[in-house]
Amino acid sequence: MSATRIILDVDTGIDDALALLYAVKSDDIQLEGVTTVFGNVSVEQATVNTLQVLELAGAPASVPVVKGADRPLVRKWEGPVVHIHGDNGLGGFRLPPPSRQAAEGRAAEYLVRKINELGRDLTLVFVGRLTNLAHALAIDPSIAGKVNRLVLMGGALRAPGNVTPTAEANIWGDPEAAHRVFESGMPITMVGLDVTMQTVMKEEHVALVKRKAGTAGERTAEFIEQILAYYFSAYEKQNGFYGSPLHDLLAVAVAGDPTLVGTEELAVKIETKGELSSGATIGDLRGKPDYAVNASVCVSVDSERFLSRFIDVLASGAPSAQ
Ligand code: RIB
Ligand code: CA
Repeated sequence: MSATRIILDVDTGIDDALALLYAVKSDDIQLEGVTTVFGNVSVEQATVNTLQVLELAGAPASVPVVKGADRPLVRKWEGPVVHIHGDNGLGGFRLPPPSRQAAEGRAAEYLVRKINELGRDLTLVFVGRLTNLAHALAIDPSIAGKVNRLVLMGGALRAPGNVTPTAEANIWGDPEAAHRVFESGMPITMVGLDVTMQTVMKEEHVALVKRKAGTAGERTAEFIEQILAYYFSAYEKQNGFYGSPLHDLLAVAVAGDPTLVGTEELAVKIETKGELSSGATIGDLRGKPDYAVNASVCVSVDSERFLSRFIDVLASGAPSAQ
């Protein structure tokens, strides 16, 4: 089967960094380009982190990194998420300064251009706020019907939220953007907390990556070990166990291999007003929904297969043939 051609939108971030490594190294993914957005860190920091991680992964220089939005559509950005991702978004790990720069232009225009060029051959994978895509849809609403699919990390159907009792961080961080995207008619696969909270990486998995990587993959394995040590501690304070869910990485893996998850076809609405529920993804679980179905919501995941797949991919020394 041919590799899934993707544009990956990130707010790099620890789990975004793992998603980038996976996108470069996995042979079922062909990375066309990367767009950046504010979220875990500022968009400037996310762009530098992305360039650094792509370089570490050995991504070809032909994969552009395009800077995107620095704030939500209408709200104020709450600032970087230092307690989860560290002062630089990579748990304090310092990679060498990137040798190349971000491409000219803005993410929204780049998305519109690439979707019009590649159409159904292109899958979008968004693992941060949906702001860049909302801007792209404002420029050219017709892109909603042209792209193959949007796979997004965000939301929670039956699972509790992770920022508020009802909202997951990527949707909570710009609900108006999420609302526009979910109402756009674009085919959506929602990889939310219902499944990502079931894909927990622990110390033994990191040890396996290190062992399998050997000397060829030593630098990457060390990077993974260091950034995850920060992430695991952060999650221990929040969830009581030393380990972490692999939110963003799962979304990229699902884009490459949709059989990793089970889905329900649902009408999903984004709450933009609720005092206690802003950013909630409300799936109509009644037999006869009031609205049209607009999303395949991931409700189960083959965690064992996913964990062993990503360990193999992250431990592999070379990027996939692009
Ligand atoms: O809720 C998890 C999401 O929030 C991930 O994308 C993570 O990187 C953070 O942005
Ligand atoms: Ca993210």
